[in-house]
Amino acid sequence: MTLALVPAPASITSDGSAVFTLTDEVRLVGEADAAAALSALIAARTSGVIDPSTDSGSGGESPVIALRITPAGTPESYRITADAASVVVTGADAAGLFYGVQTLGQLVSRDGEGFSIPAVQIEDAPRFAYRGVMLDVARHFHPVETVKAYIDRAASLKFNALHLHLTDDQGWRIHLDSRPKLTELAAATGVGGDAGGFFSKADYREIVAYAASRHMMVVPEVDLPGHTHAVGLAYPELAEAPVLSPHLLEIVESHGGAAPTAGEPYTGMGVGFSSLKIHDEATYDFVADVAGELAAMTPGPYLHIGGDEALGTTPEDFALFIERATEIVADLGKTPITWHEAGAAVRIDPSTVGQYWGFVTPTDGMDEKARTFVRNDAGLILSPADAVYLDMKHDAGSALGLNWANGPTSVERAYSWDPAAVIDGVTDADILGVEAPMWTETIRTLDDIDEMAFPRIAAAAEAAWSPPAADSDLRTWESFRSRVGALGPLWSSLGIRYHPSAEIPWVSE
Ligand code: ACM
Repeated sequence: MTLALVPAPASITSDGSAVFTLTDEVRLVGEADAAAALSALIAARTSGVIDPSTDSGSGGESPVIALRITPAGTPESYRITADAASVVVTGADAAGLFYGVQTLGQLVSRDGEGFSIPAVQIEDAPRFAYRGVMLDVARHFHPVETVKAYIDRAASLKFNALHLHLTDDQGWRIHLDSRPKLTELAAATGVGGDAGGFFSKADYREIVAYAASRHMMVVPEVDLPGHTHAVGLAYPELAEAPVLSPHLLEIVESHGGAAPTAGEPYTGMGVGFSSLKIHDEATYDFVADVAGELAAMTPGPYLHIGGDEALGTTPEDFALFIERATEIVADLGKTPITWHEAGAAVRIDPSTVGQYWGFVTPTDGMDEKARTFVRNDAGLILSPADAVYLDMKHDAGSALGLNWANGPTSVERAYSWDPAAVIDGVTDADILGVEAPMWTETIRTLDDIDEMAFPRIAAAAEAAWSPPAADSDLRTWESFRSRVGALGPLWSSLGIRYHPSAEIPWVSE
């Protein structure tokens, strides 16, 4: 029998002996937050048929699922021992227990007319400390409820970081008291002229708190110095005129829409045409205001300042901007993150973490730029676009999504890469983690997000969490596709409208 476990745990033994039968008599005891989370998962998975009690009072002889924290073992690790008599989940910390609960939710299986949990021993801990998903709320705005739903989905796969791409040429999506015109004048529209929107500070706080309750941190990104056409709607004195390069005009030609015009909202899909003024001190006052306010609103350690596709800026000016902007962030007590292009700036603040978005086989010297962050001992986040960009088309027939990252991304391609094999000389010790971005040029709704993310997000989760293939029998494409297929009923019960990829042997009940 295939156990529906994704990401694959570090170690599992299962002798197929007697199962733990789930009934209404089962009591969940121990940590209250974990008990509530497990109770909700079991109720969803069993369509409300089984509703275990979280009452900690004595239940006499009734069987028990015990949820405990024992501060031993590595951060975020957990252990599950299940047999016919009882189930015990022990987390090294609250996050570890939460991940144990997610694993237990995946183990709940239909058993004749009822449900059970197989007898297993699991010991599990993450391969990488940083396991991220990114949601672009700039190309299309996505409201708080959608963000919360995506947090639930990601946390169930043991992701612990939500990177919000809050600003781009098409809109600025976070209200800042120090720069109120950004949301007054530059948030009304998105790609295709669709309605825009923005998060109030209260909205942002709500997202941060919700994420924290699922053991996820929020990493806010304001993309600078390019991807800033929207800034020019609010503060025109900070923005250079759009650079209409052949690359941009090609995108305008193939995707439609008008070329960008200074002072007009941009609703197309072109990139690399906008820049802040690099030699104007007012730009650095702006960066200090924006970064300072975001840092104060964000409990997590990271602040992402973009740095990608600044094609309208000379290399010298780009380097100057990156050096100053990363220093501003570091002086605020936050760790800057930038996309890998910023590694071209030799005097980038040495604490800056790089995010590599080139291909699994690097092209155009992108690996060399990424090595800067390794030389600085700051670490790399790997987001190879042709494996983990969740907005790439599944296949040539996909209605949603884009195609530029080496064509469509099959589930097998999303799975068949290893973080330590992307950039020569970069090993696990240099890698902070893995992140799966979702850009939203074509993505408007939660259903669209589900359709593009699932099942490929599970492959990214496994790259981020599970041991490398050399250390685990479960890390094969054949194992992965059958484990993901077995997750279909759980995903359906949670309301996830996954893409029914023909590569996966979906189980139905
Ligand atoms: C990116 O895809 N421009 C980071």
